Amino acid sequence: MSNLNYDFGSGRADPDTFPVEALKAAALRAIEEEAVALTRYPGPLGHRGLREAMARREQEREGIAVDPDQIVLTNGSMQAVTLAAQTLQEAPGDTVIVEEFSYPGTLSAYRSLKFRMEGIPVSETGMRLDALEKRLHRLAQEGRQAKFIYTISTYQNPTGATMPKAERLGLIALARHFRVPVVEDNCYADVHYEGPVEPALYSLDDSPAQIYICSLSKILGPGLRLGYLIARPPVLERVLEHRNDAGGNLLAAAIAAVFYENGIWQHAAITNAALKVKRDLLLVGLADELSDTCRWSTPAGGLFVWVRLPEDVDRRKLWQLSQSRGVSYLPGSSFHVAAADVPYLRLAFGHLCQAEISDGVSVLAKCIRESRQSNAPIDFDSLF
Ligand SMILES: Cc1ncc(COP(=O)(O)O)c(C=O)c1O
Repeated sequence: MSNLNYDFGSGRADPDTFPVEALKAAALRAIEEEAVALTRYPGPLGHRGLREAMARREQEREGIAVDPDQIVLTNGSMQAVTLAAQTLQEAPGDTVIVEEFSYPGTLSAYRSLKFRMEGIPVSETGMRLDALEKRLHRLAQEGRQAKFIYTISTYQNPTGATMPKAERLGLIALARHFRVPVVEDNCYADVHYEGPVEPALYSLDDSPAQIYICSLSKILGPGLRLGYLIARPPVLERVLEHRNDAGGNLLAAAIAAVFYENGIWQHAAITNAALKVKRDLLLVGLADELSDTCRWSTPAGGLFVWVRLPEDVDRRKLWQLSQSRGVSYLPGSSFHVAAADVPYLRLAFGHLCQAEISDGVSVLAKCIRESRQSNAPIDFDSLF
């Protein structure tokens, strides 16, 4: 859109910290070193060097020893989301459990695969375990055993919620009790700003019922299309049976392997510092402009702020006004499991420059105020 000056809509990496020179050097080395390998198909697991680098990442962040031969490199983590779902699905119409608000790409993939999605409410500590337990009971009574639970347990997209360790253990216990596998999407885990680093569910449960998904899109760039899935036998073999694309992009993986040969943290520290400045600017802008009107998340990581609007905001008018004034965001309905028109919106801040964030929040705040149908004080004090 030509008049879009403040694009809070798309969740992208920060262009200013994209490591052009280092990747140029890595690309030269990768092409020289992999010349012969590039004349062959890469195999179902993908580039060994990148799998070793990601195994080190898992060891360092999650404290789990992962065999590089249990890592499957994929075309972005989105391919891993689909592969995991195809592996665990028995037939169209199967039930899957998701957070009530979740990543639109996953919701769309599950809709295409004809899953019946059960949305579990989310709180500041992630998927609500009381609601999950009740739902699992109800499904069992109805003879509709869920095929798996999909969760974005860390810096959840869109809510920013992170599940603390105690709740993670609770989720694992429930999943075990009801014999439901877990697919954990840890796409944002390395985009960390502050606070405790919570361990992946995969590191807390060594059963094959755990599938783990991660991505390089958020710490490097989605254009590389590099993600991965980790699973233990026999689930791993079943995942590979569903892979029909002759393997992932070996060149992109080889370049990333050189780039990350000394670990991912050096570059993540640079990108996270820059992103944190932007997150803080957005939070300050919201506090200055909307503290009497809205509530929002303070995400300890990830790329989004989730904003709760008063019920009396005319959401169609808000969208039209914002677009006409050059502001874009994603409406709550994009993330809702049943596409319900909920009074929320998501603001992405990673790729905007600082001035765009500050100015854009002011314009958006004005649009929100003008879209309200009353001036009544808001009757909620929390995000959920
Ligand atoms: C939770 C989640 N999972 C997966 C993806 C897909 O990312 P990619 O395929 O670029 O790795 C995204 C992208 O925004 C996401 O938010």
